[in-house]
Parts: sequence; structure tokens; C-alpha cells
Amino acid sequence: GKPLVVAIDGPSGSGKSSISREAARRLHAAYLDTGAMYRAVTLYCMEAGIDLEDSVAVEAATRNADIELSTSPDAEWVRVSGRDVTDAIREPSVSSSVSAVATTLGARAELVRRQQQMIADSGLRIVAEGRDITTVVAPHAEVRILLTASEEARLRRRGVQLGGTQSAAQLKEQVITRDAKDSTVVNFQQAADGVVTIDSSDLDFEETVQAVLKVVYATT
Ligand code: C5P
Repeated sequence: GKPLVVAIDGPSGSGKSSISREAARRLHAAYLDTGAMYRAVTLYCMEAGIDLEDSVAVEAATRNADIELSTSPDAEWVRVSGRDVTDAIREPSVSSSVSAVATTLGARAELVRRQQQMIADSGLRIVAEGRDITTVVAPHAEVRILLTASEEARLRRRGVQLGGTQSAAQLKEQVITRDAKDSTVVNFQQAADGVVTIDSSDLDFEETVQAVLKVVYATT
């Protein structure tokens, strides 16, 4: 078939992952969660006792890290060195350290290379989401979307996602502080040239999926 790479970027709590996964299902496409790769490298470094401030060590660890992840929208799993870390990479300790890996340029270069390989391996039928997919990983994707939401909507969704057990301060730390750190190396707050913005603040899940599919059908 014709290539259909759908690149979706957006901040934390924008609903990117669940929306992208569902869009992939409906398009009978593969799904790539690039954030899971940054999280897996972070966990790998933490377990290996690597100083996350040491960019040379983090880059070397990223190159060495044996990471596998599902590209099926119907099966979510991530493995590091053959061990299942699907849940472990979502722990708050990983969330609060992941920006250290994301701001290490050598680590990014390695992960971008792997992500481009995974997109090629999908037969170019894939929904890939993250922070730099529309700009760096797949700037020539058939469809490029920036999925945004107001700060209020993002905090609300993250609160629900984490089960409502976190304090407002913890939530803010995980959403706002992390985005601020990530923004120092990737611009996912503004749409690059040719990227369509979807603001999901006032849309429910199904409406947001429909908005994404509408862009796909309009551009392909
Ligand atoms: O999407 P998620 O919140 O799981 O991403 C985790 C972290 O991975 C982000 O906070 C960011 O530091 C990093 N990331 C990135 N570039 C991507 C995807 C994720 O820097 N394409």
C-alpha cells in the first residue's frame, strides 16, 4: 500500500498516547510510543547506577541499551535487556528523571536513529508519537499533527490517569516541570511549518480521535 506515516507531537497530558494508539487501531497501522524509549533508557541508567548528569556516560548507555517495544496498538509491552518493564517505566521516579536523558543530545541522536529504523520496519504504515516526531524523526511524514490542550485540561487528565492519588503539587511537578525541561531541547509547544494543530481541551476522547482521522483523510 501507499506509505502512511502519521507523526503526532504534544506535551505531557495532551492525551497523545491513548489517542495515537486508537488512531493506529482504526487505520490498521503500527504504533510507536517514543516516550517509552526515553523512559526505558532512563530506567536502564538508573539500574546501572549511571550518573544522569554525565552526558558522556548517558550517551554510551543509550547506545548499549537493549530495548524492545511493541509496535502493535493492541499489545503494550516494553523490555529492557529482555525483562518486562512495561509498568516500571511509568513509575514517578522514572518520570522525574527522564528529562535528563531527553536533554542529552547524543542519547537523542541514538534514539532518533532507532525510531527511524522502526518506522521503516513498519512498512511505513505507522502512527508515531512523541515530542520531535513532526520535526526530527519523521519531518516528511504524510500527516503531521501537534496535539495540544490547555494546562488545566492536561493536569486534569494526568490526575485521572494516575488514579487520582497524587497531590496537586506532585501532578504539577510531573506535567509542568517536565515539559519545561523537555522544552529546552525540543519545541513541541508550537507547530512547525506544515503541522496541523488540534486543541483537545474541549474535546472528549472520541472527538479527538475523529479530529485526528479527519486530518489523515484530508491529507491522504
Ligand atoms: O510521552 P512521555 O511522557 O511518556 O515521554 C516521556 C519523556 O520522554 C518526555 O518527558 C521527554 O523527556 C522524552 N521524550 C522526548 N522525545 C520524544 C518522546 C519523549 O524527549 N520524542
